[in-house]
Amino acid sequence: MEPFFWKLSYDTGLKQIDRDHRMILELANALYTAMHSGAGRAAVLRSCQQIVAFTEEHFSREEQYMKVSGYHRAEEHKQEHARLKEEARGLLLRLELDSPDSSTGLYQVLRELFIEHIPECDKPFGEYYLARSHQARQG
Ligand SMILES: [Fe+2]
Ligand SMILES: [Fe+2]
Repeated sequence: MEPFFWKLSYDTGLKQIDRDHRMILELANALYTAMHSGAGRAAVLRSCQQIVAFTEEHFSREEQYMKVSGYHRAEEHKQEHARLKEEARGLLLRLELDSPDSSTGLYQVLRELFIEHIPECDKPFGEYYLARSHQARQG
C-alpha cells in the first residue's frame, strides 16, 4: 500500500468533478494514515464510512451532469458506478461486522477508481461535457 498523489491524468476539466475527486483522494490518504498510524479500528471504520458516503454522493452528482448533458455513454458509466458502489458497500459491511482486512480491500477499490475509472470513464465524459458546452456557447 502507498498513499495517493494527484496526477494530471486525473483532471477531467470539470471543476466540481475534479474537486470531488481531490476530496476522495484526501479521504483515501486519511484512511491510509489511519491504517498505518495504529489509530485503531474505530478510526479506520469511520474513515471508510466517510469514503463510501462521499463517493456515493460524488457518483450521484456525476450522473446528474451526465443526465443534463444527454451523455450517450451514461448507461455504461452508471453501471460502472453501481459495480464500484456495490463492491465498496460490501467491504464496508464486512468491516462493520469485524473483518479488519476489508479496509485494505476498500483501498484497492479506490486504487481502481483512480487508476482505471477516472482516466477511462470520467475523463472522456469531461471532454464530452466541455465540448458540448463550448458548442452551445457558439451556437
Ligand atoms: Fe464516474
Ligand atoms: Fe468521478
